[in-house]
Amino acid sequence: MRRVLIATSNPGKLRDFAGAAAAHGITVASLPDFDSLPGVREDGATFEANARKKAEHYSRFAPGEIVLADDSGLEVDALGGAPGVHSARYAATSPQGNADDRANNARLLRELSHVADHTARFVCVIAAARDGRTLSTFRGEARGRILDAPRGWGGFGYDPLFLFPALGKTFAELTPQEKAGVSHRGAAFGKFLEWYERQQPLR
Ligand code: IMP
Repeated sequence: MRRVLIATSNPGKLRDFAGAAAAHGITVASLPDFDSLPGVREDGATFEANARKKAEHYSRFAPGEIVLADDSGLEVDALGGAPGVHSARYAATSPQGNADDRANNARLLRELSHVADHTARFVCVIAAARDGRTLSTFRGEARGRILDAPRGWGGFGYDPLFLFPALGKTFAELTPQEKAGVSHRGAAFGKFLEWYERQQPLR
């Protein structure tokens, strides 16, 4: 079975990628020793800029391999697209520090407490890089609505607050495979797989 390396230590993202890859006979793995590698500042203005920056940086530690990095987040229409690229650190007290999911969700509920329109979308951009160069990028989106209270125990991040109307469930109420079938990350990964299979057809 073929293996794709992902530059992340986020177990939620890895589960999502594994869920998306399973149907294609591909396994995913975190870049070896990811946690001991020097980090990268995610200071780009867009998901794409940050995804490229991460993929280019981490691909230098796996010479000759295609390395994927994703940058993703939640854009809420009534909040002008916030938290957007700042999703991981929405409730952080310092500009570079991330905040935990519970604190980020609490801030989102506070910001929306007097707002009628709760429509939102998740966005994910995956960059595929080799030896420090981006080969291509892939974007996926999922539209939904932010609830007034969390529902479900799966997923990560804002999943318990993100209702996917077509299924009547939050992303935290889906299995990794179900989430991959409708999510921003699953959509972006599907585009990556189409590209990947064109590069080197699956045997
Ligand atoms: P990144 O690691 O900079 O891409 O941060 C992404 C942040 O966006 C995460 O920490 C979550 O807060 C949020 N996010 C991205 N994708 C998802 C998802 O699939 N479910 C829930 N939250 C997500």
